[in-house]
Amino acid sequence: MCGIVGYIGNKDSSSVLVDGLRKLEYRGYDSAGVAIFENGTIKTVKSKGRLDDMEQKMEQVGRPHGHCGIGHTRWATHGEPSDINSHPHGTEKLSIVHNGIIENYLQLKEFLTANGYTFVSQTDTETVAKLLDYYYNGDPLETIQAALKEIKGSYALGILFKDFPDRLYAVRKDSPLIVGLGQGENFIASDIPAILKYTRNYYLLEENEIACLQKDKVEIVSQDGKPVQKQVLTATWDIEAAEKGGYDHFMLKEIHEQPKAVRDTVSPRVEDGLPDLKVESLTDEVLGSFEKIHIVACGTAMHAGMVGKYVLEKLARIPVDVDIASEFRYRNPILGKNDLVVIISQSGETADTLAALRLAKKHGIHTLAIVNVVGSSIAREADSVIYTWAGPEIAVASTKAYSVQMAVMYLLAFKLALVKGEITENEARFYTQKLMEIPTQLENVLCHADDCKQFAEQIKSSDDLFYIGRGLDYSLSLEGSLKLKEISYIHSEAYAAGELKHGTISLITEDVPVIALATQGALYEKMIGNIKEVKARGAKVLLVCQEGAELADQLADYLLEIPAVEDILAPMLAVVPLQMIAYYASLLRGCDVDKPRNLAKSVTVE
Ligand code: G6P
Repeated sequence: MCGIVGYIGNKDSSSVLVDGLRKLEYRGYDSAGVAIFENGTIKTVKSKGRLDDMEQKMEQVGRPHGHCGIGHTRWATHGEPSDINSHPHGTEKLSIVHNGIIENYLQLKEFLTANGYTFVSQTDTETVAKLLDYYYNGDPLETIQAALKEIKGSYALGILFKDFPDRLYAVRKDSPLIVGLGQGENFIASDIPAILKYTRNYYLLEENEIACLQKDKVEIVSQDGKPVQKQVLTATWDIEAAEKGGYDHFMLKEIHEQPKAVRDTVSPRVEDGLPDLKVESLTDEVLGSFEKIHIVACGTAMHAGMVGKYVLEKLARIPVDVDIASEFRYRNPILGKNDLVVIISQSGETADTLAALRLAKKHGIHTLAIVNVVGSSIAREADSVIYTWAGPEIAVASTKAYSVQMAVMYLLAFKLALVKGEITENEARFYTQKLMEIPTQLENVLCHADDCKQFAEQIKSSDDLFYIGRGLDYSLSLEGSLKLKEISYIHSEAYAAGELKHGTISLITEDVPVIALATQGALYEKMIGNIKEVKARGAKVLLVCQEGAELADQLADYLLEIPAVEDILAPMLAVVPLQMIAYYASLLRGCDVDKPRNLAKSVTVE
C-alpha cells in the first residue's frame, strides 16, 4: 500500500512533503520518512510509527531544508514496521520511495549480492534502490529504463539522483501515481488530496511512463524513451472536502456527508422520474442481453454488492453471484459470454479487485466498474464506468462510499428490471422516487446520534457481540459487524438470523449484546422469533426496525427506529445507526477511529 509524495520548487520541501503525507496517511501509517536535497547531498529522516513520530525525529536530528525531496508513509508488507525498513531507501547515488510489491525481489537480491551489494532492511524496496545503483551510468533515464526491465511486480516510485539535485523522477506500474502541476513547482503523489493545497492540475501517469520533474517543467516519456504528450486533468474535489471541516474525525464527517453523497450520486442519473445510468456503452439493448451478473469487490464494497444481489435478483429476476475479489481471481470462475461483471471499489486501486477486472476482461466479458475515484486504474480499464460521487473518503472505515455504492446498485436494479420488463414504468418511477427521498430521510436518521452513543456505552466493555438479520438485513449486518470490528476491536459476528441456532447460539450467554436488524416486513415475525431465542439465553438485544413496527418497544432492551421506508431501501437508512454505534464504541474505548491498527484504506497489494 503506502503513500508517496515528491516536491520540486521554491518552497521548503520538508513542510510540503509532511503536509502531503498527512493527506496520505490513510494509505498506511506504520512508518514515515523523507529524503531531501540539502546543499548537494540527500538528507534522509525516517522513523517507525506515525508521521508525528517522524516529525519529532526531524526536530531532534535537524529538519532538512531544500527545494526538492520525496516522502513516504508505509503500510508494512515485506519486513516489520521499523526504522530500518522505513522508506526512503537509498545508496550513495540515489534515494527512492516505493508503493507496491516487487515480486522478484529475492532473485534481484541474489543477483545484487553476487555483485557485491549488501542489504540492511528486509524490504523489497531496497532491492530496487540497489538495482538502480547497479545500472547507474550518469544518465537517470537510461538507468530507470534498465532497471524497469528487471523488475516484476507493482510499483509507484519517486527517485532522487544525487548528481541531479534539480530533478525528481517518477514511474509507476499497477500502483497509482499522479504528477501535480504548479506554478514554478511540481509534485508527485499517490492521490489527489496530497496536492490539492497547491494545485488542482495534474497528469495521470500510465503504466511504465517515466516522469522527469523540474521546478518549471515536466517531461514524460514512455518506457522506451519516446516523449508522451499528456492531457492536463483538473481535480474537482475542494480542499474543504479533504479536510475534517469541524468534525472530530473524518469518519464522523463522512457519516454526516451521506445525504449529500447519495443525492449527488442519484440525482444526475434520474431523467423524467426514471433511472438513467448515463453510460453510453450500456444501452437498453446491451443491458437486456445480460443473463447473469457477477459482482466482485473487497471489504465494504463487497458488502454493498451483497445488498445489490438481493435487489437485482428481487426486481430484475437475474441471477447474481457476489465474490470476494481475492477468491474470484484464483478460482477459475465460470463466466458466460452474456454475463456482466460488476466491479465495485471506492479507491479504484484495490489490487485484488483490479486483478479480478482484468481476468474478466481477458475472458471477453463486459465489465462495469462502480468507482469513487475518477481516473483510477479500475475506472480506466473497465468497459463501462458509473462513478459514485461521494467525494474523498479519508477515514479507513468506509461509510459514505458504502451508501453511494448501494445507491448505484438500486439504480442498476431499477433500470435492469425495467429493461427486462420485470417491473412496469410506473413501478420504476415509484422506486426511483423513493430512492430520491432517501437523502432527506438520512438527515433525519443522523439526528439519532445520542441514541447510538448511549448504546455504544452499553457495549464498550463487551468482548463479543452478534448482529443478526434476514434477507437484506443479513447483508447489512455483515457491514455493521465489520465496522465495529475494524475500529473498536470488539469481536463481533454477523449471522443470518435463522442460521444462528445451527451452532453459534451456543455462544450467546448472559449479557452478550445482540444487534437485531428487523427492517423487512415480510420477515419481521421470523425475526421476533429469533430475538426471543437469544433473549431466552440472556442476551441484551438492540432492535433496529422501521418506525411503527409492531411490539417493537416490548421486544428488546434497546430500540432504534429508522423512518418508515420501502423495505427494499431500508439498508440505506439502517446502516447509519450501525456506523454511529461503531464510531462511538471506538471513541469510548480510546481507539484511533480514523486510523485503526493494522488496516489501510487503499489496499494496492495482494
Ligand atoms: C480496504 C479498506 C476497506 C475497503 C476495501 C476495499 O480494506 O479498509 O474500507 O472496503 O479496502 O477498497 P475499495 O477501495 O476497493 O473499495
